[in-house]
Amino acid sequence: MRKKNYKIVSLFSGCGGMDLGSEGGFEYLGEKYKRLNTEIVYAMDFDEAICNIYNSNFPNTCHVADIRHLKSKNIQKHNILTGGFPCQSFSVVAQNPKRLGYKDDRGKLFFEMCRILKEKKPSAFVAENVKGILSANKGEAFPLIIKEFEKTGYHVKHNILNAVDFGVPQKRERVFIVGFKNKKHYNKFKFPSPLRRNKNVPLSKVVIPDCEVDEKYFFSDKAINGLLKTKHLESMNKGRVQKLDEPCNTVGAHLAKVSLNSTDPVLRTNGRYRMFTPREVARIQSFPDNFKLSGSRTTNYKALGNAVAPVVMWHLMKNIIDAMESGQL
Ligand SMILES: C[S@@+](CC[C@H](N)C(=O)[O-])C[C@H]1O[C@@H](n2cnc3c(N)ncnc32)[C@H](O)[C@@H]1O
Repeated sequence: MRKKNYKIVSLFSGCGGMDLGSEGGFEYLGEKYKRLNTEIVYAMDFDEAICNIYNSNFPNTCHVADIRHLKSKNIQKHNILTGGFPCQSFSVVAQNPKRLGYKDDRGKLFFEMCRILKEKKPSAFVAENVKGILSANKGEAFPLIIKEFEKTGYHVKHNILNAVDFGVPQKRERVFIVGFKNKKHYNKFKFPSPLRRNKNVPLSKVVIPDCEVDEKYFFSDKAINGLLKTKHLESMNKGRVQKLDEPCNTVGAHLAKVSLNSTDPVLRTNGRYRMFTPREVARIQSFPDNFKLSGSRTTNYKALGNAVAPVVMWHLMKNIIDAMESGQL
């Protein structure tokens, strides 16, 4: 393989949605996402079972590690740092000027990403989070998060990208924060625009025929009848039963616990209700069918539901590389 110019370190790698998109070289729904000029040189996550999924799909290893104990001297020199830091509960303590605190231990993880940026000084970084981060702490936390990234020495932009705009059959809005050391790269960089080449891709494109779906994914008549006693069919279907001719609602990390009582998306096919299989979730998230799944159903749902849609990340990384290349001219 030709040497790749842009070395990437991936934090909170999960099963590698961001990483697959960052490297490219895969096919999804008949589209080719070409191999980018990038190479993941280090990946890490503290969930061993999820790292196992990663490790059966990438040539590099996902190290099982807690970021709080990760020493930057143990990470290779790199050009781009990526990380979907876990959603956190920040407290914006009443103080003048306001600054970020953290309500629980997980709140620290964002600061760990900043620490690595400070110590390794890559040319660019990408952070990802749920849309709710924009309104966390009555909208006060997000500007402070951006300020914190700027304080580490980066010019920072952010935007919401919706997977449905990139040919993925899922309405999934996520906030992406992109930073560059070099002002020229920052000026050149543009977030990818929604693709207008085709209409929204419907869920039916990725759903597996019922005859190929194991019985364990179907809800029992008992569960349905029990619920119908308390709920009208229409209100039961509202929000959770997905229309096959439209993109799916966001798939989350808790599909293992999905019930007809929850608001997580479910399917109604041939008059029966069922949950999505892990392979269907992978497809809804734009993982190609040759992406290997392993471990328990719970692990698969968690890893896939938490992932960045690879196709979205591919478009974003392509624009980052383009900005860094044209910014050198
Ligand atoms: C939102 S998911 C990241 C998904 C990933 N970006 C992808 O596209 O597949 C966040 C990940 O952070 C990991 N994590 C949470 N706390 C951690 C810690 N202290 N150290 C390392 N990883 C942690 C979780 O196991 C989870 O896989």
